[in-house]
Amino acid sequence: MHIQFNSKLPSIEMTIFTIMSKLAKDNNAVNLSQGFPDFDTDPKLIELVSRAMKNGFNQYSPMQGIMELRERIAEKFDALYNSTYNPDTEITITAGATQAIFTIISTFVNADDEVIIFKPAYDCYEPAIELHKGKSICVQLEAPHFKVDWQKVKALISNKTKMIIINTPHNPCGTVWSKEDMLALESLVRNTNIIVLSDEVYEHIIFDGKQHQSVCLFPNLKERSFITASFGKTFHNTGWKMGYCTAPAELMHEFRKTHQFNVFCANHPIQIALAEYLRAPQHYLDLSSFYQNKRDFFLKAIESSRFKFIPSSGTYFQLLDYSKITEEGDVEFAIRLAKESKIASIPISVFNVDKLDTKTLRFCFAKKNETLEKAAAILNQI
Ligand SMILES: Cc1ncc(COP(=O)(O)O)c(C=O)c1O
Repeated sequence: MHIQFNSKLPSIEMTIFTIMSKLAKDNNAVNLSQGFPDFDTDPKLIELVSRAMKNGFNQYSPMQGIMELRERIAEKFDALYNSTYNPDTEITITAGATQAIFTIISTFVNADDEVIIFKPAYDCYEPAIELHKGKSICVQLEAPHFKVDWQKVKALISNKTKMIIINTPHNPCGTVWSKEDMLALESLVRNTNIIVLSDEVYEHIIFDGKQHQSVCLFPNLKERSFITASFGKTFHNTGWKMGYCTAPAELMHEFRKTHQFNVFCANHPIQIALAEYLRAPQHYLDLSSFYQNKRDFFLKAIESSRFKFIPSSGTYFQLLDYSKITEEGDVEFAIRLAKESKIASIPISVFNVDKLDTKTLRFCFAKKNETLEKAAAILNQI
């Protein structure tokens, strides 16, 4: 018998990450598609997790996360941004940034509410909005600089606008918003009830001396914003699915009502381990130079290829423009590269409005130098 039901997400197909990673595996291709490192997390951190398990931290943690970890996070905001979050009421530990993002949208977006997002956009925002019968209002940014036209954004704001989702440093573009961008956003939302969801999972991966412009640096943004963060991105263990979010107490109180019936709490032994590991800020302060070296290594190795690029300013992604090579669509070209040239990437059109194709592919450089060398050798032949 076939069970009849109406899909709540009729237009969602298998994600491009799953498709490209499978193609990479089936074709034994160098995989620069999905955003995860091919090197391991710090053995010290693994040791701390094992120790926490051996010490019996194997049952539920408090719903909001353990206090020690929330305190370490509060100290980090204080040290980096001179910004205060109360660990008791304004910080919650989550099962990765994705769960935080889903729960924020689930908590606040009602039927017919509008949520402004900037395209290309990371792919977990829109399905969550759709599941809650909200409407995504998309602002398409133009390659190759992906600058925001704030007048256009202003024109899209109405009394239906419930939320604006931003992401800096940006996946997939590798761009970083400036202070002026944040001030423009701040002035647009002042005296409104708009909530800002600021996806800052790459806050510690920012290059060429640029400063991360967290929403917490701007008082009129901070008072209405959630920040979402990912330990997986910061400590090279995306499979652990650990993250957190911060927000003013009133918003966080409402968030926790949903959170407690969603996962209830995040992985307990890993929280114990992270609380200890975060005592050494060097573990995240060194990340920008670590990844900047990888970016530079990769770009130097492909400088004589036929791909065009603007060096990424943050994240561990690099966009490459292949318009000098072929007129093929980006999905078609990415699939051919995986099958024939044995290198997997992500076509950018999947993140754009109406699958706008700008002949651009995204490559992840969170890889060992030997993997990047292999990738460059292939790209130089194309
Ligand atoms: C922009 C952005 N937000 C959120 C996430 C999800 O983070 P997590 O793995 O902690 O759920 C990712 C992961 O790729 C991302 O790139």
